[in-house]
This record gives sequence, structure tokens and C-alpha cells, in this order.
Amino acid sequence: MTDDHKKVEKDEISGVDTTGHEWDGLKELNNPLPRWWVWVFVACCVWAAWYWVVYPAWPTLAGATKGSSGYTQYDELKENQAEIIERQKAYLDKFNESSFEEVMKDPELYSFAVAGGSAAFKDNCATCHGTGAEGSKGFPNLNDDDWLWGGKVGDIYQTISYGIRSGHDEARTSQMPSFGKDAILKKEEIDSVVDYVLGLSEGKSNDKMPGYAIFQSNCAACHGEDAKGGRDFGAPNLTDSIWLYGATKEDITSSVYNAHAGVMPAWQSRLGDSTVRQLAIYVHQLGGGEKDVPKAVVETDPVIVETAPKAE
Ligand code: HEC
Ligand code: HEC
Repeated sequence: MTDDHKKVEKDEISGVDTTGHEWDGLKELNNPLPRWWVWVFVACCVWAAWYWVVYPAWPTLAGATKGSSGYTQYDELKENQAEIIERQKAYLDKFNESSFEEVMKDPELYSFAVAGGSAAFKDNCATCHGTGAEGSKGFPNLNDDDWLWGGKVGDIYQTISYGIRSGHDEARTSQMPSFGKDAILKKEEIDSVVDYVLGLSEGKSNDKMPGYAIFQSNCAACHGEDAKGGRDFGAPNLTDSIWLYGATKEDITSSVYNAHAGVMPAWQSRLGDSTVRQLAIYVHQLGGGEKDVPKAVVETDPVIVETAPKAE
């Protein structure tokens, strides 16, 4: 390097040294950094060092350094949740002490129950019944007023509590015989009774059909003489066009040949009574819920307990 290169060129106007960097005739001045900037920078470094010590900062194999303050966002979340739970508890206590009728007459408690039931439904029931409780083959739609085991809030509560064929002592249980598989009826008899059943929902059946007699002696005990269903046995109404296992002749033949016996788990022990009651109210208000008429009320006073308006 020559002396020429070492010599620092000064800017003519400001008298400040240049760095020797030049772009199209623009030269960079070698000004010191502004004081305020340096101090902000130093403060940031100090703050960063303090932060590493006080807060969880560096990842380690076991998670992260803990920080001297012991702060974690999990704790903060817990506190927030505790606050929400505290607020809910006021409602929950009142809900737990109130009967279904009382809840239905109290719009605030009612919408609390519907909201809680709706959340619990999405978590526990939607897998089988669908997010909108619309059901699918083998899993009943809970929005319509076609009930296997009863659509009063008390009936629904019992169904949810102990399940259907769940193995629980209190479960709703019945077993349609497998008329074909267990050779209870001959193939022609099954054919005739299926024709009779198929015709019922289409308004084409009559008691002159050969299937009628077979139905009365083999099926009416559960499905009813008029085939409108029997809730003591969870036997579906066969005269409407709502089918749990399909509407075609093949579907119905298959139901009669080899009965299904759908299983619904018991929820009381898993979710607790309060959640099950919220679920019962939620399912009841979906659209098909029937009015509960408490006996005492009917005897003394002809007022029917109205279902509170639908909560949004
Ligand atoms: C593993 C699948 C499954 C889950 C999960 C499930 N169910 Fe069911 N549920 C069924 C089946 C199957 C039936 C019909 C059983 C039958 O054939 O009688 C049923 C029937 C019902 C009925 C009776 C309907 C009627 O017509 O009488 C209600 C009410 C019900 N479920 C509510 C619920 C609620 C509430 C939950 C969530 C806590 C739930 N179910 C979770 C499978 C399920
Ligand atoms: C012991 C009572 C019982 C008897 C007897 C009985 N059923 Fe059933 N049946 C049921 C029950 C309970 C179900 C619902 C099964 C389920 O959900 O898994 C059912 C379901 C059906 C279904 C399916 C309905 C649908 O919505 O998909 C058909 C069809 C049917 N039964 C026809 C018959 C015929 C025909 C006979 C006589 C030959 C008969 N059942 C005898 C109890 C009975």
C-alpha cells in the first residue's frame, strides 16, 4: 500500500473524515454514531441479559431455562381459566340445584345449559352422531322427532346417562331377533314381511297381505300392532320414512335377517351428572324434543311446561 491510499480524505464542506467508500461520486462520512443510539443499544443489551436471567429463555434438552422469576405462560393460562371457571361456577351451582323444569323456565340458566351441552356434544358425541347431530346409518339423527327411546328431557337424560346396550346395569336394552340368521322365519316369510314393512311407509300395505300375519305374530310385540314403534324396546317406527339402517328392500331385508343392535356408550360415569344434564337439555332443544309434563302439575293445573326459546 502506498501513502496515498492511507491518507484520509476530508469532506470539504463539513470537514469530517470520509471512510473512502464512494458510490457514483457520493462519499461516506466517518461520523461517530449518535450518542442516543449508542445508549439505546447498550440498554437493549443490558435488558436482553436481564431477560435471559429472569425469564425462561434458552432452549435446553429438558425444555428451557426456567428464569429466576419462575414465570410461565402455563401459570398465566391457569389463572385466566380459574377466573372463567369461577364465573361459570355461579351458574353451575344454580344449574346443579335446579330441576329440568326450573332450568327450562329460566332463560339464563337454559342458555348456559345449552351452551355447555353443545360444547360437550362436539367433544363426545359428534364422532357418532355428526357435528350437527344429523346422524348417519346406524346412528340416529337427534334433530327430528323420531325417537327410539323417548324424546322427553328425562328420557334423553336416561339414554345418555347409561347408554344403549352398553353393558351398564341401567342401560336401555333390547334385542331384535335375527330372523334369518337364527332360522326363526323362512326366506319366503322374510320376503313377505319385508314387503309388508316396505309398503307401510309408502301407504301400500294392508292386512290382507301375507306379511301382515307374520308381522303381528313376530314383530308387533316390539314394533307395535300398528308398527309405529315401541319405546320400551327402542323399536323404531316402521311406518314413517325415517330409517336408521337404510330404506331399500335390501336394507330392510338385512335388518330382519340379521338384527343390528346398535350400541351407545354410557356417559354418566365419564362426564359426570352435570354435563349429562346439560347434554340432555342440548339434545332436547335440537328440534325434536317433546314436552315433559310433570305429573303433579298436570293433576292440579292444566299448564304445560313450555320449552324456553331456542338459545343462539
Ligand atoms: C360410539 C358411537 C356413539 C357415541 C359416541 C354416542 N352415541 Fe348416541 N347413539 C349411538 C347409537 C348406535 C344409538 C342408537 C342405538 C339404538 O339402536 O337404539 C344412539 C342413540 C342415542 C340417543 C337415543 C335416540 C333416540 O332416538 O331415542 C341419544 C339421545 C343419544 N344417542 C345421544 C348421545 C349423546 C348426547 C352422546 C354424547 C355424550 C352420544 N349419543 C354419543 C351411538 C353413539
Ligand atoms: C325384541 C323386539 C323386536 C322384535 C320382536 C322385532 N324387532 Fe325390529 N327392531 C327392534 C329394535 C330394538 C330395532 C333397532 C335396532 C338397533 O337400533 O340396532 C329394530 C329395528 C328394525 C328395523 C330397522 C329399522 C330402521 O329404521 O332401519 C326393521 C326393518 C325391523 N326392526 C323390522 C322388524 C320385523 C319385520 C320384525 C318381525 C319379523 C321385527 N323387527 C321384530 C326390536 C324388535
